[in-house]
Amino acid sequence: MKNTILKGDALKMLKTLSSDSVDVGVTSPPYNKQENKKGWLVKNVKYSGACDKESELKYQLDQVAVLNELFRVIKPGGSFFYNHKTRWERGKMIHPMDWLRQTCWTVRQEIIWDRMIAANIRGWRFWQKDERIYWLYKPIDNNYIGKELLAKHALLSSIWRFPPERNNPHPAPFPLILPARCIYSILDKKSGVVIDPFAGSGTTLVAASLLGKNYIGIDISEEYIAVAKKRLRNVTQEGEILMRELEKHVVRKTFKERKANGDFVGRFREADVVISPPSLF
Ligand SMILES: C[S@@+](CC[C@H](N)C(=O)[O-])C[C@H]1O[C@@H](n2cnc3c(N)ncnc32)[C@H](O)[C@@H]1O
Repeated sequence: MKNTILKGDALKMLKTLSSDSVDVGVTSPPYNKQENKKGWLVKNVKYSGACDKESELKYQLDQVAVLNELFRVIKPGGSFFYNHKTRWERGKMIHPMDWLRQTCWTVRQEIIWDRMIAANIRGWRFWQKDERIYWLYKPIDNNYIGKELLAKHALLSSIWRFPPERNNPHPAPFPLILPARCIYSILDKKSGVVIDPFAGSGTTLVAASLLGKNYIGIDISEEYIAVAKKRLRNVTQEGEILMRELEKHVVRKTFKERKANGDFVGRFREADVVISPPSLF
């Protein structure tokens, strides 16, 4: 089953897929934002085919079930990128790691997505302009370390800085750069199958298609699937955004060249870059 979008509940649809059949996944699930947590600057997120208003316990159990089914479907050595954020309920922080540690996955890295804009400008906390992307890994024979990324991908670091998507009718899309970076960093030029179980407007599938990979999408909403299908019929229109991302995956000077040049080759230390602030007193 390749280059298709399945309409239905993510967990039910995942159960129809073969084990160890997919190389990479990227998703941003509904965040259980209770549909009433509107910031001053942002629109309320309401999906056309699903209610984003569960008890937190049920929400987390559902997420664990979907993530474990994805673990079955993804090949050993495969990766899944899970975009989420920290939330607060009556002043208490809810962290994605609260349920990620209950899944079969090895959490390989926590990436900070600096969205460069805060969704709410109240001062209960410092303005939240980050989301997280968890790189989850399915080990081969209990080897939790896995293979190295190529240097041209690894140099993109654990902080990703780009704004949220604005040109999209979906209420909560991520920008094309996000899944493109994940997929390209893992598969590079290799062929493979990419999955997004909460595909929405199909951003992950568009990235996969532009990168020459096969894809499987799932979403519960007919309306968003129609948007995704339209985008996939016209993928070349988004090719320029992808090209701009690929240009970042380049090693401009190797370690050897920097050393020969007398450039900085040491390990990154904050002390090397932070200039001491003037004393306040
Ligand atoms: C945050 S959005 C994903 C947006 C997507 N990344 C994009 O760029 O368009 C979450 C999606 O999950 C879908 N959804 C909600 N509950 C679902 C379920 N139980 N099964 C499958 N899809 C579901 C919603 O329709 C929505 O499109």
